[in-house]
Amino acid sequence: MGGSQLLSPPPKLLAALLFLLWMQEFYKLDNILLHSFALVNQQNEEKEKSLMLDASPNSAPQPFLPLFAPSPMGTPFFHNTTPKLSGRCTLNFPSVDSLMSTTAVDCWTSFAPFLANVICCPQFQATLTILIGQSSKETGMLALDSTHSKYCLSDIQQILGSQGANSDLQEICSIHSSNLTRGSCPVYDINGFESVVDSSRLLSACGKVDPVTECFSQICQNAVLEAANKLALRDGELMASFSIQNSLIEHPSKIDSCRRIVLRWLSSRLDTASAKQFLRRLSNCNVNRVCPLDFPDIKGVAENCGNMIKNNTACCQSMENYVSHLQKQSFITNLQALGCASFLGRKLQEMNVSTNIYSLCQITLKDFSLQAVGTQESGCLLPSLPSDVAFDPSSGISFTCDLNDNIAAPWPSASQISSSSWNKSVNFPALPAATSSQFGLIAADMMTCSCWCSYGTEIGCT
Ligand SMILES: *[C@@H]1O[C@H](CO)[C@@H](O)[C@H](O)[C@H]1NC(C)=O
Ligand SMILES: *[C@@H]1O[C@H](CO)[C@@H](O)[C@H](O)[C@H]1NC(C)=O
Ligand SMILES: *[C@@H]1O[C@H](CO)[C@@H](O)[C@H](O)[C@H]1NC(C)=O
Ligand SMILES: *[C@@H]1O[C@H](CO)[C@@H](O)[C@H](O)[C@H]1NC(C)=O
Repeated sequence: MGGSQLLSPPPKLLAALLFLLWMQEFYKLDNILLHSFALVNQQNEEKEKSLMLDASPNSAPQPFLPLFAPSPMGTPFFHNTTPKLSGRCTLNFPSVDSLMSTTAVDCWTSFAPFLANVICCPQFQATLTILIGQSSKETGMLALDSTHSKYCLSDIQQILGSQGANSDLQEICSIHSSNLTRGSCPVYDINGFESVVDSSRLLSACGKVDPVTECFSQICQNAVLEAANKLALRDGELMASFSIQNSLIEHPSKIDSCRRIVLRWLSSRLDTASAKQFLRRLSNCNVNRVCPLDFPDIKGVAENCGNMIKNNTACCQSMENYVSHLQKQSFITNLQALGCASFLGRKLQEMNVSTNIYSLCQITLKDFSLQAVGTQESGCLLPSLPSDVAFDPSSGISFTCDLNDNIAAPWPSASQISSSSWNKSVNFPALPAATSSQFGLIAADMMTCSCWCSYGTEIGCT
């Protein structure tokens, strides 16, 4: 099928996007973003239809790259401005130059809120960790003091902002200057760290993190936690009377502070690119486990679809209206969409909606991701291992979508409700490269979904 056609949108479509993005400078962003999706849909309707038909079980679909082009008419969409630096932050910014540029694009002004959960914030946090890790090689310290942390966080925001990032990353990603300090971890200098932690063991567990197996084997995550525990227990007071298990329960914030110290130390031992890769892979496991959407009250759907459905049209209308609220929120991954579909399905079942209304109303996984309100097939689900956002001066901002998303949302079955624990022997699905993604793998996804849902109070499937 015409994958290459997709990668370079037709001139007419591109022109429309160019215009919309130019308007973005003047109008409120979300409307424009959503409208630009609508326009893509309208103009490309025929093409999309044939595309979706092509995404049949037997074909291997190509990744879909939505393109958000720079604005025309000589207004540069991408402008480097000069950052206003405090002059009081000692972090070594030039050493992580290309990392910062990647982060600025991942957190691109208008897209940051929509990519916050999956791409922007994990990358922003990795950047902070690596900056402190790298500078520890000079200072010997794996944390900033509270004064410097304020200057540094502000400088980092300035630098990223000057390269096109959203100017409100701290708010979007809930980062405070205290996140750069030692928090309540008692050990935060390299010498102290290495006298407490078995560093070669830690490095061998985390030097090469597999993006798929790490999510269920947790080899690196467990090693990090173990090291964090040792640091946290360094106070002495707890040594004798608490087991490690108890200290986890008693001192979650201390363990968490120490966990950040461990990640910084690891980042100081790896080159920037490897450190970024390992941090993103770890955070990705957590990202995919949680549905990040806010679910409004489902009473309306329950009224129209609960018990015996009296009127299919009315039921599906209320369901479509409901999902339209979900579609204004965020780009999510295919695995998150499975978790979201499962969560909503359970909520509906609790309200006596026993019919599979996903099937009745043709709700697909993609319906849970950001898209134009009221139009179908205009959204995009990200792959379970989302790549960084790309910037190209001529074609603009782009990111890879997973085309395996046009399948019916799975309605949770009764057996899933009764299962009670995360079964680690069930593989986290491998859907990494969009190019190698196969429709058949979705079946593995569904199995995994049932696991997180019974596991996760975090997505509320209790
Ligand atoms: C930053 O620290 C605050 C508490 O000081 C915490 O609530 C927040 O979750 C932390 N943010 C991250 C991204 O770790
Ligand atoms: C079903 O609901 C639709 C939309 O609310 C309404 O237009 C239609 O008349 C209803 N049909 C019946 C048989 O009640
Ligand atoms: C679900 O149905 C049962 C039995 O039909 C009823 O007792 C219960 O109140 C209903 N729950 C809701 C939330 O409507
Ligand atoms: C996990 O799954 C495997 C294979 O599917 C099964 O043999 C094992 O008993 C399961 N473990 C639990 C705790 O359910």
